Amino acid sequence: MSDTTLEFSPAAAPLADKLLAPALEILARYPTGRERSALLPLLHLVQTEDGYVTPGGVAFCAEILRINKAQVGAVATFYTMYKRRPTGDYLISVCTNTLCNVLGGQEVYDGLVEHLGVGHDETTADGSITLEHAECLAACDYAPVVTVNYDYAIDQATPAAAVELAEQLRRGERPTPARGSRICTLKEMQIQLAGFADEREGAVADGRAGAPSLRGVSLAQEHGVAVADFNIDTAIPTTKPARDESAKAVKDPGPNAPAAPAKEGFVAKAAHAVKAVVGKVEERVEHRKAGDVKDPEVRTAEHRNTTASTPATGAAKTGLPESGAAPQNPAESAGVAANQPAGDGKPAGDSSASPAAENPSRKGSDEETK
Ligand code: FES
Repeated sequence: MSDTTLEFSPAAAPLADKLLAPALEILARYPTGRERSALLPLLHLVQTEDGYVTPGGVAFCAEILRINKAQVGAVATFYTMYKRRPTGDYLISVCTNTLCNVLGGQEVYDGLVEHLGVGHDETTADGSITLEHAECLAACDYAPVVTVNYDYAIDQATPAAAVELAEQLRRGERPTPARGSRICTLKEMQIQLAGFADEREGAVADGRAGAPSLRGVSLAQEHGVAVADFNIDTAIPTTKPARDESAKAVKDPGPNAPAAPAKEGFVAKAAHAVKAVVGKVEERVEHRKAGDVKDPEVRTAEHRNTTASTPATGAAKTGLPESGAAPQNPAESAGVAANQPAGDGKPAGDSSASPAAENPSRKGSDEETK
């Protein structure tokens, strides 16, 4: 995409004047026709100027990518790292997710709220610090965790340590965090997030994995647990392995390949099982044709409904009195008399008259609906 083809609206022009060159560099990283995927780094780029995604930033992204502002807005409002209000120089994030919370993350956050006099996503009056509580910051082994501009700043934080850090930042100091490089401002961090190197001296540092992160490894070593055949010197392939033609030949032998001998394995066992089930079904069908052989479900239904056309045929089979047989004792007789099947879907013992009998005026309406 050539910049000579671009014209920006008055809303986008101020940012275009400053950011067009790096924006085009970002776009050039994407295949032709797929430039809209550059929206994420472009949104970070516009935050390098204003610290948040301004209406002008939305217009600039939309116009350079030739998409509409609603599409830019949908992305910018989805991710928490795109800010919608002016931010301070330092964004302090306190993890209040489960593990950090259990270990005191909420107290750390509350301590900062009290000390700074701001709440979530609010900025101190001097514009130096924006505070937020965050979901898991991916350092649970160091819980509770505090980051400044997305760099780990305090591991196993306490309210006192967090307040001390905030004061250092307000004094203009840039303390060295627990891990990684020196703390930078939020705008400087946006440059890195847009995909550009941070040129500051000491901006890049090798962070060593700490003891909590290595706890699993040290426990494994202590107890002699190892992965079989693991070799730390095994080279990681950087090119795609050659296609295994022999595997393809096995999978797809082609029309002229000789027939493979039948295998006795899972498939063969499954075929035998299916054959056995089919045999049983056929057997059952033959029994039905031959005589009075019923499914268990049919028998159960007959027991429930004494008016069924094929009633159960005797106590010897069912354990129940044969249909119409006299009760054996007076108590049983009384129970049977009081619990005659009601029919019409009513429960046994419901001897009330049908609605139509109780209310003749309803009869007509019932019949009309039939
Ligand atoms: S829960 Fe706080 S870093 Fe994971």
